[in-house]
Amino acid sequence: MKKKDLITPLDFSVEELDQLFDLADRIRLNPERFAHSCDGRKMATCFYEPSTRTRLSHETAMLNLGGRTMGFPDAGVSSATKGETVADTARVISCFADIMVIRHPKEGAAAVAAQYATIPVINAGDGGHQHPTQTLTDLSTIRSLKGRLFDFTIGLCGDLKFGRTVHSLINALVRYPNVHFVFISPPELKVPDYITDMLDEKGISYEECIRIEDAISRLDILYMTRIQKERFFNEEDYVRLANFYILNEEKLSLAKPDCYVLHPLPRVNEISVDVDSDPRAAYFRQVQYGVYVRMALILTLLGIDVS
Ligand code: CP
Repeated sequence: MKKKDLITPLDFSVEELDQLFDLADRIRLNPERFAHSCDGRKMATCFYEPSTRTRLSHETAMLNLGGRTMGFPDAGVSSATKGETVADTARVISCFADIMVIRHPKEGAAAVAAQYATIPVINAGDGGHQHPTQTLTDLSTIRSLKGRLFDFTIGLCGDLKFGRTVHSLINALVRYPNVHFVFISPPELKVPDYITDMLDEKGISYEECIRIEDAISRLDILYMTRIQKERFFNEEDYVRLANFYILNEEKLSLAKPDCYVLHPLPRVNEISVDVDSDPRAAYFRQVQYGVYVRMALILTLLGIDVS
């Protein structure tokens, strides 16, 4: 049987995603039932870029399933420093582990790893391109909080140019009916043309604005993002835009009572800590949903029957 990877959110059909989220719900409600589902299995996490959540969330997911983990948290301690290619590393990791998770600063690196690995590969972020497991986390969180993945208005705010979580989430949400997008960004960090072209082609409604206050009262979800310092070409531009958005309780008071605030994290200054105690602040709950959905993903990619 052909192995399955997760390189972009579109690698799973809407029906497959529904099954994945159903499994994540089953795991959330009865984690003990799955505590030995991956006994004897090994996961390698190969991170060429810094991470807190994505790496540890995958490792937690595998440990919760009874499996084991290994890997490197930094390219500087891997043989990449000696010039080893991603393709060769993927071949080598296939000799050690049952499943591989890779984060890399170059767009397309995870796809290369998947091409050469003989084990399932999970893209944990490739440059400014895609971050599909964050998207699974976001979709699973929205589905749990709102009870549906259709018929809502979502505001995406911040660095829409470099933010790979935003690009992945838009790609995934366009497959659901009646989702209206509001892109909130400074002009320099607008969502890329290839995304608005895709929305135009599909006839999906969206609008663009600069100020949170101009859109927040109409939103069902507000997805905040940080300005991606590491993808700027010069410090001056970053400093100018770094504090462009700060969501505080005063601004959130303009939102609907059931407008949830999500953020892939890490946050810098874009959400004030006074928002954390608001019941609509869902970004730490989102982290927990990320563990359940990654547990479901590991089981699915390994083809483990938990029916
Ligand atoms: N959301 C996310 O990708 O966080 P990390 O960079 O900490 O993995």
